[in-house]
Amino acid sequence: MSVPGIAGRTLLDAEQLASTVRQIGRSISSDHPEGVVLVGILKGSVCLVADLAREISVPCAVDFLALSAYGAGGTRIKLSKDLEADVAGRAVVVAVDIVDSGLTVSYVRRLLAERGARSADVCALLDRRPRRLLPVELRYVGREIGDEYVVGYGLDFEERYRNLPTLMVVEPDSLRSAHLAAPEGEVASVKGAPGH
Ligand code: IMP
Ligand code: MG
Repeated sequence: MSVPGIAGRTLLDAEQLASTVRQIGRSISSDHPEGVVLVGILKGSVCLVADLAREISVPCAVDFLALSAYGAGGTRIKLSKDLEADVAGRAVVVAVDIVDSGLTVSYVRRLLAERGARSADVCALLDRRPRRLLPVELRYVGREIGDEYVVGYGLDFEERYRNLPTLMVVEPDSLRSAHLAAPEGEVASVKGAPGH
């Protein structure tokens, strides 16, 4: 499936996303018969969490946290929205859109360990290993990718394109110039991508 209005190539279409997420949901359910707390890292994991939660057949609580980057080059991370759930003694599955440097996931795993989670498995829809700075163990991975930028299905470029139903590989520079050439919202709506 190609999405009009955005130049790029489809990495996973809606059907491939559904079967990838279904497979992960099955694995989580068989690995954790006692149930899990599914923790999504906002905002990139929203589509993944919504779909994955419905593919998990064991007891499943859903919670979210948000992080923000700060410091030189955005290399430091702080919590900007905390969990509501008490994770002490519970099996947690962290859902993240993509693991790049590994900083985000390392931060979250440390936080969950400090809070006494019994386990903290990571589920990454995408794994971009060539750019890893910190080693992280990923238990559930949808797809490994190379050094390419991806939008759609929750992943953004400058807060756009999260609503695309497919995952697309794009050129950030060409998206940036498209943004500059058109007022806010115009690129996607004029060229026919879903509205923002
Ligand atoms: P990390 O801390 O470097 O592993 O960064 C992970 C976060 O960066 C992800 O949760 C995404 O929000 C964002 N990110 C990294 N690569 C991409 C991409 O290709 N598209 C959209 N967001 C990305
Ligand atoms: Mg982003």
